[in-house]
Amino acid sequence: MIVKQYVKDFEKLGFGMFVHFGLYSMLGQGEWTKHLHSIPDEDYLPLAKTFSPDADWAKELVATAKKAGCKYITLTTRHHDGYSLYDTRGLNDYDAPHSCGRDLVREFVDACNAEGIIPFFYHTLLDWYQKSYEEDFKTYLQYLRDSVEILCTQYGKIGGIWFDGMWDKPNDDWEEDALYGMIRSHQPEAMIINNTGLDALGALGHIELDSVTFERGKPGAINLETSPKYVASEMCEIFADHWGYAKNDFNFKSLREIIEEYCVCRRYGSNFLLNVGPLGNGKMRSLDKAMMETLGEWVEIHKEALYLPRPAGVEMTVGDNDFVLEQNGTYYLFCHNLAMTLGAENVVKAANGEYVKKFKFDKAVKSIRWLDNGKELEYQQADGETTVYCAPYQYGENLVVRIAKIEV
Ligand code: GLC
Repeated sequence: MIVKQYVKDFEKLGFGMFVHFGLYSMLGQGEWTKHLHSIPDEDYLPLAKTFSPDADWAKELVATAKKAGCKYITLTTRHHDGYSLYDTRGLNDYDAPHSCGRDLVREFVDACNAEGIIPFFYHTLLDWYQKSYEEDFKTYLQYLRDSVEILCTQYGKIGGIWFDGMWDKPNDDWEEDALYGMIRSHQPEAMIINNTGLDALGALGHIELDSVTFERGKPGAINLETSPKYVASEMCEIFADHWGYAKNDFNFKSLREIIEEYCVCRRYGSNFLLNVGPLGNGKMRSLDKAMMETLGEWVEIHKEALYLPRPAGVEMTVGDNDFVLEQNGTYYLFCHNLAMTLGAENVVKAANGEYVKKFKFDKAVKSIRWLDNGKELEYQQADGETTVYCAPYQYGENLVVRIAKIEV
């Protein structure tokens, strides 16, 4: 099996921020609004005349991503509405330089590079703007390649390209060899990812693709038996119900759900790509930002277990949703559903939960300690099974998923 180092390096990034930003952000009805609300071109295209994000839009995104613990950001350089945040260098006038005289992808890349965050480019395949997409597909594919080539040649070394929309024409020949070959010729170590959408979670595709995708799904172990190449996996998720800013979408997940999803990703060695949809001025919705930053506090506490450790193949015998990761002979037990301590009955609502975890383990354990406070946990080992006594949360804490470090 072919194993590429850059694919392994991508896995080590672990956690990224997805950013859906474009003309649609000005309307606040989600990134599909043009299509789903049948907004005619004469109403939609003029948005390009006034699109002018605040000067520090990219810096703010990067700073928030960094605070959250994200190692990379995937930005929609062009979404399905066909508008480009980058300078299309004459391919068309429907791009940021013709809106505000700026190359927004350049601003994004500069902000990322300044902070050591790796820039990834989302690029649409399906296109509602370019007439050739429906009328002359071969011409469209050349336009697509020319567009992506700009991204591969004008912004230095990039983390990867994230395609989306092939599911719109599943039976057409997208000339993937030519598209991916062009990327490889300029960016041999760029991850090439092609979102398989909601129906084909985790499906393998073209041999040049470097990761499978689990859009808003739950990652599972990927079956690489038939694959000649080792691929990574990534799950993208949204806080509410839209990728692009939707003003009237209040259906936010709880931070608890987000932490649990993040952990499901880690359980299967999958990267977690968590989306924000900035407003038209490029500023984040306050709750998007707050969620990212607060999640970042949890990440900071547990970071030792979140990036490099990989699935350890340890079988839990007691502990729903719990699992063990391993790195260089150190193990990390992810504990869900811990009980809350009983306190003064008018103050603490004691939650039911578990505090005993058991797993099959053939190594002699030296110590088990919580990552958050270093306190030692009691445990017993017998008959190839390890029993850990987690003790309930004390008043003042509830980590949702609490991680213990196991030294052997
Ligand atoms: C879907 C949507 C798109 C969004 C993407 C993110 O494919 O079409 O709007 O960008 O999911 O994963």
